[in-house]
Amino acid sequence: MRFIGIDFGTSNSLASLVENDRINFVNFPDGGISNPTILYFPAKSKQHYIGNDAVRRYLINLEESGSGGRLMLSIKTILPEAKFDYTMVAGFGRLTAEDLVAKFLSILKQFAEKQFGEQFDGVVLGRPVQFNEIAVSRLEKAAQIAGFKTVVFWLEPVAAALAYEMTAAKDELICVVDIGGGTSDVCVIETSAARSASPDRLGDIKAIGGVYEAGDELNAQIMKHRLAPRFGAGSTFKSLGKTLPFPSHIIYKLSKWHRINLLNNRGDKETLQSIRPSSDRPEDVERLLNLINHHYGFELFRAIDVAKRHLSDDDEAIVKFSPLDLREAIEIKEFEEMIGAVAEKIEASILDTLTAASVKPNDIERVLLTGGTSQVPVINRSVIKIFGADKILRPDYFSSVATGLGYAASRLK
Ligand SMILES: Nc1ncnc2c1ncn2[C@@H]1O[C@H](COP(=O)(O)OP(=O)(O)OP(=O)(O)O)[C@@H](O)[C@H]1O
Ligand SMILES: [Mg+2]
Repeated sequence: MRFIGIDFGTSNSLASLVENDRINFVNFPDGGISNPTILYFPAKSKQHYIGNDAVRRYLINLEESGSGGRLMLSIKTILPEAKFDYTMVAGFGRLTAEDLVAKFLSILKQFAEKQFGEQFDGVVLGRPVQFNEIAVSRLEKAAQIAGFKTVVFWLEPVAAALAYEMTAAKDELICVVDIGGGTSDVCVIETSAARSASPDRLGDIKAIGGVYEAGDELNAQIMKHRLAPRFGAGSTFKSLGKTLPFPSHIIYKLSKWHRINLLNNRGDKETLQSIRPSSDRPEDVERLLNLINHHYGFELFRAIDVAKRHLSDDDEAIVKFSPLDLREAIEIKEFEEMIGAVAEKIEASILDTLTAASVKPNDIERVLLTGGTSQVPVINRSVIKIFGADKILRPDYFSSVATGLGYAASRLK
């Protein structure tokens, strides 16, 4: 049986395979080895699409017909949600969390089989440290539905450690810090080139930890603090002679991009229409109605993500979204205030993991800092504060987990 490695990330996914002792990645149709973990069901079609191809098709259909169908991001975050039963998708019926993930994985499997010219019946899948039982079992089922007969899990930071130790000159006690889109994962592990081929590394793992918060949560904080007021948050309206605050359940749905879709129902839209005439900020209520009616949620969150990434290099960035007349400048200082609590949680999870491993920062010989969100300056600084800059190694932010999974897959038969 042939195995492939898959890093099914909250934001980005990759598939990998070792050939002739070299790691190879599956190319997506746009040529990229990493593509957004996005699933797209066009309105009138039985087909579905993933990655940048999905985004491109969605935006074209939205422009041409005013309704793009269903675009789903961050589907990995649905896996741990016990309350999530299924979602109805036109043309597909009820899709459970595992069905959705399976739809993504099955296309990735097809790409891999086409590129490498062989069938993959086994998969080595990464999983975050913070991932409850239901999430693991759903992810396993999803892989089975996608056609993988054997599913092997590796903790994502352990996979990143494996990719590192194969090239390391000596055994070391290292700490992997992987701050991605949905989760921040930490692992203290003893690396050893000699033991790297061993199927069971449990004895080398000193502690694992982390939190369910990473890059997506930073976007949600920007939305909450800077954009939500432009959609009515904090405004008031009059009803039966009383002054009332803008409804909080509407603000709640605004804070995560995938919840914005939930506002597209008659009840919420009628509420907004009835609030608008007596609102003290009718133009903001109008902007929210435009956001909902034109399905701008995805593009707005993309604009937020772009601005956030700029703030890793510049002291100021602008969330620009001209269809809604938005241009919000954010200074790095403000951004760091907005995300302070999240950054503190991530820092605390690193310290807690060291404590659980009964080691001090000084005992750690090497830190592998990876995941897209590790580039956020305040998060980067807190890792430096704990360990010192000299020990920190930054393997590729987006492919280090997938590299380890590819090597792990190559050892299974
Ligand atoms: N230059 C940057 N500065 C800040 N954040 C960034 C930068 N580049 C990417 N990101 C963020 O990194 C996140 C994606 O990172 P990554 O691909 O490591 O996550 P993932 O593996 O998909 O998620 P997870 O491992 O949590 O399931 C996104 O939230 C993205 O906005
Ligand atoms: Mg990741």
